[in-house]
Amino acid sequence: MTTSPAVQALTTPARYTAAIARVRAAARAYYGGDGDVAAESVMDDATYDRELLAIAAYEEAHPGEAAADSPTRQVAAGAAPAGDVAHTVPMLSLDNVFSAEQLVAWGEGLRRRLGRPVEGGFTVEPKLDGAAIAARYRDGRLERIVTRGDGRFGEDVSHVIGTVEGLPEQLGAPVTVEVRGEVLFTRAQFERANEIRAEHGAKVFSNPRNGASGTLRAKDRPYRPAMTFWAYGAVDLDGGSFLPAGASHSEVLTALSRAGVRTTRDNPAAARFVRTVEEAQARIEEIRAMRPGLPFGIDGVVVKADAAAERRAAGTGSRFPHWAIAYKLPAVERTTRLLEVEWNVGRTGVLAPRARLEPVEIDGSVVEYATLHNPADIRRRDLHVGDTVTVYKAGDIIPRVRSAVVGLRPADAVEVPFPGECPNCGGGIDRSQERWRCVKGAACRLPALIAYAAQRDCLDIDGLGATYVNALVASGAVTDIADLYTLDLETLSRAAGSAKRGASLVARIEAAKARPLSRQVCALGIRNTGRRLSQRIAAHFRTMDAIRAADAEAMREVEGIGAEKAPGIVAAFAELGPVIDKMAAAGATMTEPADESAGGGPLAGEDGRPMKVVVTGKMTGPLADLGRTGVKDLIERAGGKAGDSVTAATAYLVAAPAAGGRLSAKAAKAEQLGVKVLTPEEFAELLAGHLDGSV
Ligand code: IVH
Repeated sequence: MTTSPAVQALTTPARYTAAIARVRAAARAYYGGDGDVAAESVMDDATYDRELLAIAAYEEAHPGEAAADSPTRQVAAGAAPAGDVAHTVPMLSLDNVFSAEQLVAWGEGLRRRLGRPVEGGFTVEPKLDGAAIAARYRDGRLERIVTRGDGRFGEDVSHVIGTVEGLPEQLGAPVTVEVRGEVLFTRAQFERANEIRAEHGAKVFSNPRNGASGTLRAKDRPYRPAMTFWAYGAVDLDGGSFLPAGASHSEVLTALSRAGVRTTRDNPAAARFVRTVEEAQARIEEIRAMRPGLPFGIDGVVVKADAAAERRAAGTGSRFPHWAIAYKLPAVERTTRLLEVEWNVGRTGVLAPRARLEPVEIDGSVVEYATLHNPADIRRRDLHVGDTVTVYKAGDIIPRVRSAVVGLRPADAVEVPFPGECPNCGGGIDRSQERWRCVKGAACRLPALIAYAAQRDCLDIDGLGATYVNALVASGAVTDIADLYTLDLETLSRAAGSAKRGASLVARIEAAKARPLSRQVCALGIRNTGRRLSQRIAAHFRTMDAIRAADAEAMREVEGIGAEKAPGIVAAFAELGPVIDKMAAAGATMTEPADESAGGGPLAGEDGRPMKVVVTGKMTGPLADLGRTGVKDLIERAGGKAGDSVTAATAYLVAAPAAGGRLSAKAAKAEQLGVKVLTPEEFAELLAGHLDGSV
């Protein structure tokens, strides 16, 4: 749930004036730019909203002191370049809310204005994060495009006609109307636009929104990157009668769509008609959930009264209409400081830089690290350690560093240093491509990966120590984990220094191949999947083919895999395809036996659902050596589910008898709820068949 940004109260007139100056500078950068590229934003949206709310609160508390030209009183905080084309009807802004409660309060305000409940319903649309324009069609021909400007006068940007998807130069019918909507770069268009700019030696756009307003406003560039348009309204032009008198907002959108203009109805997060504010809230939640997967940025959801008569009755203020409201979603782009760049070596030997940041909350989670691409990209973005950088969450949820706010660079900032040697093995670096690699390639990380895979709780290849592994990797006999499975007696004897040890390794490797899918998955060493998660993946999908067929959504069905991990795990299985094929060809087990997974064990409930077990205190008897994770694993293997707190749904509490008769809080709760308490020994007996299992 979105909450209002935490607003810090302005306590003195001087602080009020200073806040206005900060907001105005930020708004100038946001809306204005230098006519070529929109200037870099010096304030992220969340901070901007907070500052504006604080200014409004001060003005409410001290009405006599409110500045006549306060940014709270002007469209675009009075900072957008006005241009010289008069708008037929002013292009207004939208008021904001930040929570369900505030949305309800807005609905109540609207009801008060109407003197009765809204009868004509609402439309709920994405708030597209681009630049507002008015596109004038005369007799079906797109004649002119004008920016919003200060709401009364905009700039003529007709030079982009023909480059904006969704805004055709010619409509199917001789329609005369002014279409209003948002122009933006989709993510793919933004990447392409930056490629084009790089080819022309121009600085990359700092973000899609700045890029879109820069592209609109720059008239004499030799290149015209494609943008996309969605209409969210229209007004009559030159007495044209395209818009039927009294048409509702939904009817206007439908008419525009039919005429061939792309509207928010045609958007992936499509405009939807709803009856009530509660239904609007539900649609807002749906759009919120869609947001990470949308191929373009949205910064909120707009709720609008649909009926023309009710809009008229609600009226319009100086900056925004009373019949519409923007429900702002948490910012997915924030500014913070770049503290350091760390270099990790990936499975294939690629050196992956990642930024360590001053922690910042983005869209509900605290971000401390963000992805960077490669050294060339770091230089292109001119990133310095110490810089204030913009960080954003992309569709894949992994935070990325977008750009440095060069205007805020401290004097002691230094260019991001690049490694002189492989940060994993200390060896040489191949710099021939943009992505640097360890010269050893996959072999760089292989010894560590094989040592991991050989562990007892993974493939359990006892005797495959570090020295032998290093010898096998150095000789080229093992280039990936699958090669282990095809090593012959001679090679192993050579690496191990004796035929006897070699023979023993051959036998252990044969046994490793026979281990269930969960162990084979574990051996792949996929980031973010330890032993337990490998088990869950195997138990869920049952076959390697099913795992490989899973997309991120299917992967998220596995317990413990959330939206953050799923895409990376899916990508890792895809990347490891050839290795997995080799493992399968060598005879490795690629299925999970039924009794390895949940269901069927002594802790599988009668309804087939896992029974919940809570374990507390010191384990004794056969469970003594398992450790906390080991016991949890055991519970899952037996078809149950481990929980942390005792509730009415708990089947068993496993706890050693209370010392001195004093019950632990969990045991007391169990007693109160009638949950059966087992000693570790009793529990071990119940699960006897699973205790010595090979998993
Ligand atoms: S309606 C009079 N609908 O948000 C109301 N605006 O913060 C006109 N925006 O200037 C605006 N998506 O540039 C409307 N679905 C949408 C929108 C939208 C983005 C922009 C628009 C407006 C700004 C206000």
